[in-house]
Amino acid sequence: MPITINGQDVAVPTDPRTSLLDFLRDSLHLSGTKKGCNQGACGACTVLVEGERILSCLALAVQYDGRSITSVEGLAQSGELHPLQQAFIEHDGFQCGYCTPGQLCSAIGMANEAKRGLPSAVTADLTADTVSLTHDELRERMSGNLCRCGAHNGIIAAIAETCAADSAP
Ligand code: FES
Ligand code: FES
Repeated sequence: MPITINGQDVAVPTDPRTSLLDFLRDSLHLSGTKKGCNQGACGACTVLVEGERILSCLALAVQYDGRSITSVEGLAQSGELHPLQQAFIEHDGFQCGYCTPGQLCSAIGMANEAKRGLPSAVTADLTADTVSLTHDELRERMSGNLCRCGAHNGIIAAIAETCAADSAP
């Protein structure tokens, strides 16, 4: 079975050791997904698998045979930026931009997790059906995505504007 990447079916790589990150960047030339640490520590390589966020540097491409992946290149639809991309522009949510694709994909996956009631380390009510994305929840849930320059507060503001309203119970 092929992997679907941003709506296009592509054959899985012949070398089963190929990470999903290297497959996206080196084979498909989708260089939006960034390689920061290549060991699961920075979040720059985050992509979405059917709405769930994963670190593509820690994933083998062959694991996703038959699955549907969205990278940053697939977020805009019909020439329109995703609302979170627009909010990043409005809130100065990037400086160098290296972390931005991972931040965007991670935040979209994170909002889905909160909607499904998945708790974080700071969630008080572990039985809630959905979790409200308070300031503390947002910072905790996005703590796996590092911004090394100066955009952290703008990133959080953009995510809060776009995703927190969505997830309020
Ligand atoms: S490149 Fe994957 S977490 Fe840093
Ligand atoms: S915008 Fe430069 S690392 Fe985040």
